[in-house]
Amino acid sequence: MISIIVAMARNGVIGRDNSLIWHLPADLKYFKQITMGRPVIMGRKTFESVGRPLPGRTNIIVTRREGYSAEGCLVAGSLEEAVEMALRDAGKGATGLRDAAGAGSRTVGDAPDADNRTVHDAPGAARAGNDPPPRNEIFIAGGGEIYRQAMDIADRIYITVVDAGFEGDTFFPPIPEREWKLTGEKHQPPDDRNKYPMIFRVYDRKQIA
Ligand SMILES: NC(=O)c1ccc[n+]([C@@H]2O[C@H](COP(=O)([O-])OP(=O)(O)OC[C@H]3O[C@@H](n4cnc5c(N)ncnc54)[C@H](OP(=O)(O)O)[C@@H]3O)[C@@H](O)[C@H]2O)c1
Repeated sequence: MISIIVAMARNGVIGRDNSLIWHLPADLKYFKQITMGRPVIMGRKTFESVGRPLPGRTNIIVTRREGYSAEGCLVAGSLEEAVEMALRDAGKGATGLRDAAGAGSRTVGDAPDADNRTVHDAPGAARAGNDPPPRNEIFIAGGGEIYRQAMDIADRIYITVVDAGFEGDTFFPPIPEREWKLTGEKHQPPDDRNKYPMIFRVYDRKQIA
């Protein structure tokens, strides 16, 4: 199963100057809980903006650059190739990088800030959907260019709507109502650590009868 995960402002903005605009610990926690132990696919620009592999997850970087390498990550020359690699990795179970990228890479168990849990047993998990996540779920984690290409192949979208307007240069594409059904929604008010209200939404692709 292919899932997109994204945080988007009310006006569709997801980034500016190759970085995130807001700092919202509740959304970072949600992202971690949802993706932990699963393969994550990122465009080269997003990866370089994050600056390191996400621990406890097989990281797959998409680039057209020949010979590109990033320590602790797998590299794919197209989104299709990245998806194939991720599905293969997910099929092996939530084993992290060791099996996929060779010895010395991190796994869920030895990643410094990994809690070795999945969303099933994460305390306080704020997952907005109702069904448990499928074991073979893989994640498309941005950025704009990769999201646009992934909209046609994704089965699910986890979207955190940051309920404020921001100026930015990177946008999430529209989610056409005829193709997507809202299957989960959870509101989170602002607090001391999270300046803006958030809405955690899950959309599933409509089944064609
Ligand atoms: N709010 C969120 O949830 C969120 C999540 C992720 C990212 N972001 C933001 O999004 C912005 C980055 O997005 P972006 O659109 O500029 O870049 P991006 O999607 O992260 O990466 C674009 C790069 O991916 C590679 N690529 C794209 N399509 C490819 C294909 N079909 N085959 C092979 N390689 C391909 C190319 O790398 P090469 O140039 O190396 O060939 C391209 O330059 C940043 O501001 C980041 O903070 C926001």
